[in-house]
Amino acid sequence: MSPKPPILDHAAILADVTRCRLLQLLDRYELTVSELCAVVQLPQSTVSRHLKVLADDGWVRARREGTSHLYQRSADALDADAAELWRLIRRQTASAVVSRQDRQRLAGVLARRRTRSQEFFSSTAGQWDRLRGELFGQRFDLLALAGLYDPRWVVGDLGCGTGQLSEALAPFVHEVVAVDVSAAMLAAARDRLAGFANVRIHEGELENLPIEDARLDAAVVSLTLHHVPDPERVLAETRRVLKPGGRLLITDMLSHDREDYRQQMGHIWLGFSSEQVMRYLHNTGFAAGRFHSLPVDPDAKGPSLFVATARRQARVAEDAVRETRSLEPSLNPV
Ligand SMILES: C[S@@+](CC[C@H](N)C(=O)[O-])C[C@H]1O[C@@H](n2cnc3c(N)ncnc32)[C@H](O)[C@@H]1O
Repeated sequence: MSPKPPILDHAAILADVTRCRLLQLLDRYELTVSELCAVVQLPQSTVSRHLKVLADDGWVRARREGTSHLYQRSADALDADAAELWRLIRRQTASAVVSRQDRQRLAGVLARRRTRSQEFFSSTAGQWDRLRGELFGQRFDLLALAGLYDPRWVVGDLGCGTGQLSEALAPFVHEVVAVDVSAAMLAAARDRLAGFANVRIHEGELENLPIEDARLDAAVVSLTLHHVPDPERVLAETRRVLKPGGRLLITDMLSHDREDYRQQMGHIWLGFSSEQVMRYLHNTGFAAGRFHSLPVDPDAKGPSLFVATARRQARVAEDAVRETRSLEPSLNPV
């Protein structure tokens, strides 16, 4: 006698109304045994027995979560003929009265799940911020926002220090170019960034960047501008290495009166005002400048911070500005 084709075994497994009902439910949702019992209104022992038959033939798989097992139809474990067989049976059985009632009861079961999570949030609303920090830390959401960057970007971390920003950027962008003048800071950055193949680290000055023209899609100058004697010179140099349309982000301190920082940390500027930063951006040919004070972190002891953003203008706009400026002396004779 010739061997029995496997499709007949699959057909035998599906030749049972309860198993078809379970499979329909598990087609779209992961459900526990007790949720399935509530929907099909059968005892747990019956449901578990049918689930075992389905699992042994590769129709469903279970995943453990805490003390529960969640079941789902396994779409990939079966061959194309079995998938075709299930499509045919599902079409024939989906409109049966019992299946429609199952779907209604399933809606109730899913609504109860939502209610449980709503109950949790209504009882913890006052403590959620603390709990969130305890569970996941204070920085994860800011780190996750880096997922919004364009993965094709080449980003400059200018005045990279020990490389914290480069580390946060590197997983999400094509390349990070990190530059700093301090050999000691760069040694720490090299240690931190050793695992990233897409980070290039250069020793160099922000006033004379070791980066060719129009190489960067974005440049970040974080907590560094207050160290440079001539911020406009640094911003003009940053503009050179940005592509037309490339983005600049500066984070630094707002104006403050901590004179001691000059001696302690070599600060040259005691922070910056929004007018000062917007003037620097304007004078160095950046467009669309924006300035925001950042919310104060309750644990921070230093002065408040700002973030300023701007774009290197597109080439056509830059040419127009250059042309206007070249006319200025004749329009305004001294
Ligand atoms: C306060 S740290 C900030 C480091 C990093 N950006 C951060 O946010 O943690 C300032 C860094 O700027 C670097 N720096 C200062 N002046 C510089 C210059 N003219 N050229 C290159 N790097 C400079 C320092 O060596 C230092 O590593």
